[in-house]
Amino acid sequence: MSEPCYSFAEQLKKLLGSFSPEIALILGSGLGDIASAITSPLIIDYSQIKGFPQSSVSGHLGRFVAGTLQGKRVLCMQGRIHLYEGHSPQVISQIIKTFKLLGIKTLIVTNAAGSLNPDILPGSIMLITDHINFSFANPLIGANDDRLGPRFPDMSNAYTKDLQTLARKTAARHNLALKEGVYLMVSGPNFETAAEVKAFAILGADAVGMSTVPEVISANHVGINVLGFSIITNMGTGLQKSAQTHCETLAVANRAAANLSLLLTDIVKEL
Ligand code: HPA
Repeated sequence: MSEPCYSFAEQLKKLLGSFSPEIALILGSGLGDIASAITSPLIIDYSQIKGFPQSSVSGHLGRFVAGTLQGKRVLCMQGRIHLYEGHSPQVISQIIKTFKLLGIKTLIVTNAAGSLNPDILPGSIMLITDHINFSFANPLIGANDDRLGPRFPDMSNAYTKDLQTLARKTAARHNLALKEGVYLMVSGPNFETAAEVKAFAILGADAVGMSTVPEVISANHVGINVLGFSIITNMGTGLQKSAQTHCETLAVANRAAANLSLLLTDIVKEL
């Protein structure tokens, strides 16, 4: 039996009609509003696609928004799928393979994350330069479909360097402070202990979160270019006095979303 991505792609192609997206955006916690910049949006609920995983987290709508942004054809995921919801990492790779089958060349991922670096404060936008997969899961485990990507994909340009350069230039043009660093993924759903936060900083990470890495591994597998941003919503456990809450994540992400939206809109224009 063929993988679900073939059926997802076929169903999405029917729903999209003559619209063929070239860029995919995955919007993280509290960042869904970025899709409101899309003109003449076509909304497709994940539930309209047979077998497609559903998003169950507050702050994640669970729908695609397709349309043009700065003249570019984009497909936005307003609401992503997380491992902590009980989804297998392989399900995430099916979504990215679906993008590949739709002809998507570039994936922009955004997330909310906790800072491990005292120089990167809440409210900052962090360009993701690389990642550490500390989720103990991998979306590529299982049989490999050689038509879509190699068995042992290279990860030396995981976050496409040319796209990082474009992001830096665009941020500078807007006078927007852009931090950069390494994103470490944990499975969640619990926030980290203070000891874990200390350990992750020693490992070389600047931010910690519960998403993105399976999407980026899968995109590299199928040859889709990646650009990634974290909105820093809090300092990691032990680095701030208050406890971590999802409410705080959503509130800070919402506030910083306007700046990220500005940046993304201008980057998309140049792609
Ligand atoms: N840890 C993990 N995930 C997160 C955090 C955090 O501190 N903040 C937002 N998402």
